[in-house]
Amino acid sequence: MQPLKILFLSAEVAPFAKAGGLADVCGSLPKALAALGHDVRVVMPAYAPIEASYHSGQGTIRSHPVTLQVPMGYGTVPAGVLEATLPGSKVPVYFIAEWHRFASRAFFYGYWDDPQRFAFFSRAALDLMIAALGWRPDVIHAHDWHAAPAVTWLATAGQADGRYANIPTVYTIHNLMHQGTAPWEIFHDMGILTHGLKEEHYGEVNWMARGIYHATMITTVSPTYAREIMGWEGGSGLDALLRHRSFDVHGILNGLDYEVWDPTRDPHLVAPFDAARLDQRQHNKRVLQERFRLPQRDDLPLVGMVTRLDRQKGLDITGHVLHLLLNNFAGEAQCVVLGAGAQHYVDMLEHLAGYHRDRLSIFIGYDPGLAPLIYGGSDLFLMPSLFEPCGLGQLIAMRYGSLPVVRATGGLADTVRHGVTGFTFQYYSSDDCWNALKEALYIYHVDRESWQAMQRTGMANDYSWVSSARAYQQVYEWAIARVRGW
Ligand code: ADP
Ligand code: GLC
Repeated sequence: MQPLKILFLSAEVAPFAKAGGLADVCGSLPKALAALGHDVRVVMPAYAPIEASYHSGQGTIRSHPVTLQVPMGYGTVPAGVLEATLPGSKVPVYFIAEWHRFASRAFFYGYWDDPQRFAFFSRAALDLMIAALGWRPDVIHAHDWHAAPAVTWLATAGQADGRYANIPTVYTIHNLMHQGTAPWEIFHDMGILTHGLKEEHYGEVNWMARGIYHATMITTVSPTYAREIMGWEGGSGLDALLRHRSFDVHGILNGLDYEVWDPTRDPHLVAPFDAARLDQRQHNKRVLQERFRLPQRDDLPLVGMVTRLDRQKGLDITGHVLHLLLNNFAGEAQCVVLGAGAQHYVDMLEHLAGYHRDRLSIFIGYDPGLAPLIYGGSDLFLMPSLFEPCGLGQLIAMRYGSLPVVRATGGLADTVRHGVTGFTFQYYSSDDCWNALKEALYIYHVDRESWQAMQRTGMANDYSWVSSARAYQQVYEWAIARVRGW
């Protein structure tokens, strides 16, 4: 097939800015597409750490000579541009540098004007690539609601300008819960004239709904989640809209960046290993226990969690499960948790850790250096999500020989096979979760051979981008064909 020019728009791209899996995907899928011969370019905002890295001159981020005058309804807004490449590739990444909206803020998100900030980002990204650099993509791949304003503008106001007209768009839903809503004035700011959607309250714009409504093709990050969001329970109020577009919605599983997530040469592991040297994991376990100040006991099963502390991640059922685990209801065990997020979950974990000092240890914060040690040193990886569009944690855990215990929802249901590569449970309840964990611990203690067979099966699975990148390529072709009327 012909090489395509593909423009990625995302609020997060690893390793430049990461809060969760969105960054992993947007930092690795472009490389996999480039390896298929496509010309992929990525645009994201220049948050404070990115500008700081540029000003320090230490990193690889350079300034780009272009200055943008981004057209917004209230006038044009000047913005600078920084650039870099995705590590291990030639894929260019451009950063929209606008101090007031991005670099002056301590966090990526969480501000009252997020919908306006990302509308600006979207409009600036299009202005940069198409008007300023004259690089007209064959297809634009927009990720989550932050990039939906670009999809919306292209389908409405952008059609009047020949430079922007008829560019196919693919919109990927990574998390339907977060939708980005703003007052209708935002359309005036962007020069958009359109009608309201049933999903939008009077006077409100819903960027997630708009992305779904206006995109040429829609994808989400696992086949099961693609089905779940079509129903009332998983649809977050947008299920009717999704059903309306169901013919164009495709579930494509995320892959992992095998350059980054590789237990044979991960620099964060003290003892690299592969399926033939599983005994090496013991060294990682000891260092993990030491880092978390737990007794260095080889004989105890060690349960790990690496997670955003968010309702989505199943923390409401985790408390009781940890209570049972730490009170030895399935024999002695240890547990480590690395997480950042909601204070009430921090309080819950601190309470449990305070009571069970020699069994549970927590690290509250975001630490990309510590996460690999948990994947490579724990025996079990707990991920009891309420819902999970795809989930990368369980994929990394399986690749690193830690058996996942997960709720069979979304991408977790598509990737973990009960009794083959991990343990699954159906109902969102502490009881069901505990039963799965108890079964796992039983096998750990009594049947080491089966345990290791499961580890090896999980490690031998292909979680790379190879087949999923081809699936995206197919969706791009469909989107292009649709717009060109083929
Ligand atoms: P989500 O994107 O919903 O948070 P995923 O499982 O898709 O869930 O991706 C989570 C990613 O973020 C994984 O790469 C995981 O290792 C990483 N991660 C999550 N929390 C932390 C943390 N506190 N410190 C370091 N890495 C984290
Ligand atoms: C979202 C989802 C997660 C998914 C990630 C990358 O953060 O919560 O399940 O893996 O996006 O697509």
